[in-house]
Amino acid sequence: MSDSLFSILRGAPVVPLVQSDDPEEAVAISKALLAGGLNVLEVVLRTDKAFECLEAVAKAYPAAHVGAGTVLNAEQARKAIDHGATFIVSPGLDDGVVNVAKENKMHVLPGIATATELQRAWNMGLRAVKCFPAGVVGGPKMIKALSSAFRDMEFMPTGGVNPNTLADYLAVPSVLACGGSWLTPKDAIASGDFGKITELAKEALVIASKA
Ligand code: 3PG
Repeated sequence: MSDSLFSILRGAPVVPLVQSDDPEEAVAISKALLAGGLNVLEVVLRTDKAFECLEAVAKAYPAAHVGAGTVLNAEQARKAIDHGATFIVSPGLDDGVVNVAKENKMHVLPGIATATELQRAWNMGLRAVKCFPAGVVGGPKMIKALSSAFRDMEFMPTGGVNPNTLADYLAVPSVLACGGSWLTPKDAIASGDFGKITELAKEALVIASKA
């Protein structure tokens, strides 16, 4: 299991979502994020060509950590790994997804939104989870509260995180990193303004360095 993923996240605690239906575009988005200093990318399985996008990004940037997001079942997890994913992110907690990741000695960040789900994740041996949708279920305060009971758990809040809230999340000691789509706005992608994506990545790292 690559612990370099977590060490990278400790230095640059931001995980941008890459969503595209076009492998070339996914590579261009990823290039812009890498230029902005973000080396951990989550290609989300939300389009018909998502697996092709994942594979294209993983092949184009073998030194980056390219994971698959929105992985909903074991079959998708297996397929994502076959297409080059080096970590798996899910919106919820699913045994099948977690087991496939474990079998492949791969990091998995399943989503939790309640203490019960978090306790299940903890009892599955996980020590890092996604908190989703973080902004809706309680934000930094909720993560702080959960952390007092689950002292060895780390969190990746996602869902509603943006430049205005990033620092508050990162100020919580148990927050490993924040994920989100704010770094890859659809309008910037549609207009080919990849410079905007690089700028947003840099801005996020400046906020993170102060948090
Ligand atoms: C995710 O899958 O992590 C979320 O959809 C991201 O949420 P956001 O679009 O609010 O950043």
